[in-house]
Amino acid sequence: MTDTRRRCSLSFLALCVVCLCSCSSSITKEKLCVDNLNFSTQQLKLQYKLASVAKRNPRTTNVDGTMHWTKETADWTDGFFPGSLWYLYEYSHDKYFMKAAREMENLFISNRFSTQSHDLGFIFNCSFGHDLRLTGDAEARQVLIDASNSLMTRFRPEVGCIQSWDVNSGWQANRGWKCPVIIDNMMNLEMLFKASILTGDSAYQKVAVSHALTTMKNHYRPDFSCYHVVDYDPETGAVRSRETAQGFADDSDWARGQAWGLYGFVMCYRYTKNPVFLEEAKNIAAFIMNNPSIPSDNIPYWDYDAPADLRGRPRDTSAASCTASALIELSGYAEGTYLDYAKKILSSLSSPAYQAKLGENNDFILMHSVGSIPHNTEVDVPLNYADYYYIEALLRLKNLSSKK
Ligand code: GLY
Repeated sequence: MTDTRRRCSLSFLALCVVCLCSCSSSITKEKLCVDNLNFSTQQLKLQYKLASVAKRNPRTTNVDGTMHWTKETADWTDGFFPGSLWYLYEYSHDKYFMKAAREMENLFISNRFSTQSHDLGFIFNCSFGHDLRLTGDAEARQVLIDASNSLMTRFRPEVGCIQSWDVNSGWQANRGWKCPVIIDNMMNLEMLFKASILTGDSAYQKVAVSHALTTMKNHYRPDFSCYHVVDYDPETGAVRSRETAQGFADDSDWARGQAWGLYGFVMCYRYTKNPVFLEEAKNIAAFIMNNPSIPSDNIPYWDYDAPADLRGRPRDTSAASCTASALIELSGYAEGTYLDYAKKILSSLSSPAYQAKLGENNDFILMHSVGSIPHNTEVDVPLNYADYYYIEALLRLKNLSSKK
C-alpha cells in the first residue's frame, strides 16, 4: 500500500469511529428520553386515575404513606400535575392527556384572582401556559392575563421587586419581615413575559426585568450562590436582611434555591436576549457544576452545606430536575459542558436509586425530594414539581436530539 493510500484508509477508519461514537451517543440520548417519557406516561396515567376520583391534584406523600393532595386555596404546587399531563400530551399526542390536563387545571382556575402570594406564575404558567401553547385555547389566554394582573399587584416600586410572601399571617408573621422576596420568585416571571406578548402591554415585562435585575444585585453572593430570602424596606427599597427559610442556614446554599435562580435567569435571557442575564446564568451554572459538595451522580443534598447528621442529609431530586432542565436550555445559548452535566442528572434520576417502580410511590415518578427541613415538612418524599421538571428536561433533551 502506498503512503497516500494508507493515510486515506486511516482517515476513513477514524471517520467511521467518530461517526459510530456520536451515533451511539445520540441513540443513548434518544433511548434515555423515550424510555423514561414512556414510563412517565404510564405512571402518571395511574396517578391521574386517582386524582380524577379525588378531584384534587397530587402534591406529595404524607408521613403515613398516603397521598397528600394540594390544598384548595391557592397551593403553589397546583399547576405541576396538569403541567406534567400537558407535557405528556405534547410527547404522545394522545388526547387522553389533553382532557386530563384540562380537568385538573380547572380545579383551581378561580384562584387566578388571588393576590395573596407570588406563586401565581408557578400555578398558572405551568398549567394554563402549556394549554395556551399547545392548543391556543382562548380561555387559557385570559387565565394567564388575569393571573398576571393579580401578580402585578404585588410589585413594590421602591424595591423594584414583587413581594413574595405576606407577613401578617402564617409562620412568615413571626420573622419580623416587611417585604420578603425569595429566590423562587424568579420562576414566576415567565408568566409576566408572556402577558406582555399576549396583550402588547410592556408593563408586565418591565416588572419582570426590574425584579430580575434587583434579584441579581441583592440575592447573589460574589461566588454566584444565592440567599433564599432578602427582606426589603418597602418604603425605601433598602435591604433589611438576608436570610433563609427553607435552607440549612442564612449563609448556606439551599439546593432548590440555586436551581430556581439558574432556571430563572436562563428564562429571562430567552425573553429579553439581555446578555447580563446570560452571564448571570453561566456564572450560577459554574457555581453549581463545580461544586465539590454535590455527589458524583450530580443529585445534590437538599442544601449543599447540610451536615451529614441532620435528618440523614437527604438528596433533593426536585433541585436536580429543575437544574437539568435549565442547563439543557442554557446549552442552546452558550458553549460549555452544560448538556453533559444535565444528561448525567437525568441518567441518575432515571436509575432505580431515584425513579420509582410502576404503580409505587403513590404513582409519582421520582422519589427523594425535600420540601422544607426547617419546617419539618416533606422530607425525603416525592414531589409533583420534581416530576414536572424531570419530564420537561427529558422533552427538552429529546427535542434537541430530534433537531440534530
Ligand atoms: N417555592 C417553594 C419551594 O421551592 O419550596
